[in-house]
Amino acid sequence: MATAKAHTNIALVKYWGKKDQDLIIPQTDSLSMTLDEFYTTTRVSFDPALTADQITVNDQPVTGDGAARITRFLDIVRQLSGRHEFAHVDSHNHVPTAAGLASSASAFAALAGAASRAAGLDLSRRDLSRLARRGSGSATRSIYGGLVEWHRGHDDASSYADPIMEKVDFGLEMLAIMVSTGRKKISSRYGMQSSVISSPYYDSWKEVVESNMATMKAAIAAHDIQAIGHTAEENALRMHALTLSADPGYTYFNSETLSAIAAVRRLREQGINCYFTMDAGPNVKVIYDRADRDRIVDGLAQTFDRDRLVVSQAGPGIEIWDEN
Ligand code: DP6
Repeated sequence: MATAKAHTNIALVKYWGKKDQDLIIPQTDSLSMTLDEFYTTTRVSFDPALTADQITVNDQPVTGDGAARITRFLDIVRQLSGRHEFAHVDSHNHVPTAAGLASSASAFAALAGAASRAAGLDLSRRDLSRLARRGSGSATRSIYGGLVEWHRGHDDASSYADPIMEKVDFGLEMLAIMVSTGRKKISSRYGMQSSVISSPYYDSWKEVVESNMATMKAAIAAHDIQAIGHTAEENALRMHALTLSADPGYTYFNSETLSAIAAVRRLREQGINCYFTMDAGPNVKVIYDRADRDRIVDGLAQTFDRDRLVVSQAGPGIEIWDEN
C-alpha cells in the first residue's frame, strides 16, 4: 500500500492541444507554477480479492466515465509492473473552499505516484512525470514543485517535465478568485481538441507559445514579476481566443469572469502591478509580487467576498510513502 500527495499547478504558458490523444503528447511546450494551497492525497493498494478497481474520491464511490478513466490509467501501471490485481484507490482533494479548483493535475500526479509505488515500481521523477502525463497532460508538471516546464517531445519517452526553479526564491504569488464553484460544461480534453481541429488560428497559437516560453524563461531568470505576469496574461487571452474561434465557438468566461478581469485592470490603472490568467473554467487567478498582496486583496474585496479570494505561494513537488 502506498500514498502520494501532489499539488495542483497553474500554467503561465498554457498547454492547449494534443498531437497524440492516446499518449497525450502535446502540440507545444508549457510552463507552470505548482501551488501550495491545493493538493490531492491518494492511497492505492492492489488486492487479489477484488474483481474490479474500487475507487473513492472524498469518500464518495466513483463510477461511470470517471472510474473508467482511472481504470485505464491503472491498466498502464499494471502493464508496466506486470501486476494483474485490481486496486483500491482512495483519493482526497484538499481545496480551501468547497469546490472549484480541484484539478486533474494533482489527481493524476498523486495517482501515478501512489499506484506505481504500490505496484512495486520505483520510478525516477522523470518517468513519474511521463506516467502522470498518460492520465492528464497537466499532471505531468505536478510531479515537481515551484516553476516547471513540460517539454512537448515527440513520443512517450521524450514528453516529460523538468523543474525550472523548484524553490521560488522571489516574491511571485498567485491569488485565485473563486468566481464559480459549479462544474465546467466543456472539458479541457474536448475543448482543446476542438480548437486544434477547427480554429483557423491554431498554427499562430503554436508560434505564440514558442515566443512566450522564451520570454517567460528569461523573465523567471531575471525574477521579473511584471514580465512574468504580462506574458502569462497575454498567453491566457490568446488561448481563450482559440475557444471563441473554434467551430462551434464557445467560451469559459462568464459575467463574473469579466468583473474579475475588470477589477484586475482597475488595480493596474492605479499603479499596482497585477495580471490575470484563466484555465478551462470561469475562475480567475491573479499574479503579482507578494509585497503588493494586501493592496490587491483589499482592491479585489470591493468586488468579491474575501472568502472567495485564496492566496497561494509556490508549492512543493510530489511526496510518496509506503504504508502497511
Ligand atoms: C487550460 O491537463 O486537463 O489547464 O490532458 O486532456 O487531461 P488533458 O487536459 P488537461 O488540460 C489543461 C489545460 C489548461 C492549461 C494547462 O494546464 O496547461
